[in-house]
Amino acid sequence: MDKVNQRLTSFKKDMDAKTASMLGYPINTSANFRPLYDFLDYALINLGDPFVPSSWRINSEKFEQEALRFFGRLYRMPKEDFWGYLTSGGTEGNTYGIFVGRQLYPEGVLYFSADTHYSIQKIARLLRIPTVMVKSQAHGEIDYTDLEQQIAARRHLPVLLNLNLGTTMRGAIDRIDLAEAVLKRQGIKRFHLHCDAALFGMTLPFLSGAPQADFRQSIGSLAISGHKFIGTHMPVGIVLARKSLVERVGNAVDYIGSLDTTIAGCRNGHTPLFLWYAIQTRGRQGFAREARACLANAKYLHQRLQDIAWPSWLNPYSNIVYFQKPPKQICEKWQLAISDEFAHVLVMQQVGKEKIKELVEDLTKL
Ligand SMILES: Cc1ncc(COP(=O)(O)O)c(C=O)c1O
Repeated sequence: MDKVNQRLTSFKKDMDAKTASMLGYPINTSANFRPLYDFLDYALINLGDPFVPSSWRINSEKFEQEALRFFGRLYRMPKEDFWGYLTSGGTEGNTYGIFVGRQLYPEGVLYFSADTHYSIQKIARLLRIPTVMVKSQAHGEIDYTDLEQQIAARRHLPVLLNLNLGTTMRGAIDRIDLAEAVLKRQGIKRFHLHCDAALFGMTLPFLSGAPQADFRQSIGSLAISGHKFIGTHMPVGIVLARKSLVERVGNAVDYIGSLDTTIAGCRNGHTPLFLWYAIQTRGRQGFAREARACLANAKYLHQRLQDIAWPSWLNPYSNIVYFQKPPKQICEKWQLAISDEFAHVLVMQQVGKEKIKELVEDLTKL
């Protein structure tokens, strides 16, 4: 037992140190969920469609429904067309959204920009959907001219379009209104628009002046990661999809006594509780305050990098500062993710001015 305890104590120390020096990934490590720890004693499992009762009763589906309603309202889903479920993460949410599109339009082609998260190409391979990678603009947003040319070249085929509400590396936002205008000009009636809102899905709705992105527009599905901005400590995703579309792809299954509308069968029943708790204790106002603070600190980091003439960039409404890749020892110390010649810092809730100063000092000393 001593050995087990020693192992756990040293693991805790290691995790404390690694958490304190993490700047490169979009995870809020500062959220507190201690009041929920007692619930780890239960085998909480949510099975099948969260809105259809199942014969398995040890579940947190009421909490899941309430959490989903919060996101449904946030994204202005029409009441009669509201549906969603909590997934294992952003990737499953993207998979679900694109799966719905593929079921609606089996001969559709999936378009996405070069800056899109790698999960989208994996999903296309899994679902055997032909793809077109559209060029990105210099700062990472999809190139609407190239999008239009690519769609025009295949106008006889339905369009499955992934738009990024925040690209992974550079934090660029694809504009739904401009993509809609492309579809309209090309006379495309058969389309499914999916939004990958992994991180910015929890910041954009709270930032005044940010580009509109909600279900008053013609999006069919949208995926957010719950462990990123909300910081649930365990991977979880939120996928919203129009009920009218989902009803065309689900199956009733006797064994679970529920509708088989979800990709995973048994789903984590603890994460809905974590999301619900975050919503209750932080709410719209709390999330808005956090989002504004992250953006202000991102501007501060960008300014400090400019002050030391380190090439760096920050897109509008973004908390992702990307900059010329520093030497390996700095990337390792701060767990910086690298892509080509860039590294980036995700200015999340736990990244304050002190940490920013320390990073800038490290770069100054080079
Ligand atoms: C834009 C984007 N989409 C999807 C994902 C995948 O999310 P997850 O890791 O929750 O599966 C990420 C993760 O960083 C992301 O940045």
